[in-house]
Amino acid sequence: MKILLNINGLNREVEANPTEKLRDLLQREGFVAVRNGCDGEGTCGNCSVLLNGRLVNSCLLLAAQVEGKKIHTIEHYSQMRELNPIQEAFIESGVVQCGYCTPAMQLGVHELLERSPDQRRPIGYHLPLYGIRTDLPSH
Ligand code: FES
Repeated sequence: MKILLNINGLNREVEANPTEKLRDLLQREGFVAVRNGCDGEGTCGNCSVLLNGRLVNSCLLLAAQVEGKKIHTIEHYSQMRELNPIQEAFIESGVVQCGYCTPAMQLGVHELLERSPDQRRPIGYHLPLYGIRTDLPSH
C-alpha cells in the first residue's frame, strides 16, 4: 500500500506493508538516526521521532497509522548545515556519549522545550537538562 507522509518538511509517498512499523519504514527510507534499541518493546526510546510535534516511539506505531501526519527525525537538523542550539548545547555540556541514543535524546529535549520553555530540572534518560538549558544561547 502507498501512504503519504510529511517527513522533515517534505511530502513523500512511500510503499508500506500494512504491518510495517514506522521505525522500520523510516530506516528503509534512509533515516538511519531512527534506531532500534529494544526490538520494539517500547522501552528504550532510541526510535523516537516527533509526530505532529509530540515525541513518540516509532516502533510502537504502524506506518499506516500516521498517514498524512508530520514526522520529524534528527535528520531534519542536518538539512540546516549547522548545528542547532540543542546540538551545540549537548556538545558544550559533554553529554554526547557513544551517540547511539543521542538523536532521540535531542528530539526529546526539543519537544520538552517546546512544551515547557522554562523547564530546568533533569528529566528522563537521566539527562542533565539543566546544563543543556544553561548552555543554550537562546530559545
Ligand atoms: S526501539 Fe526501543 S522504544 Fe522503540
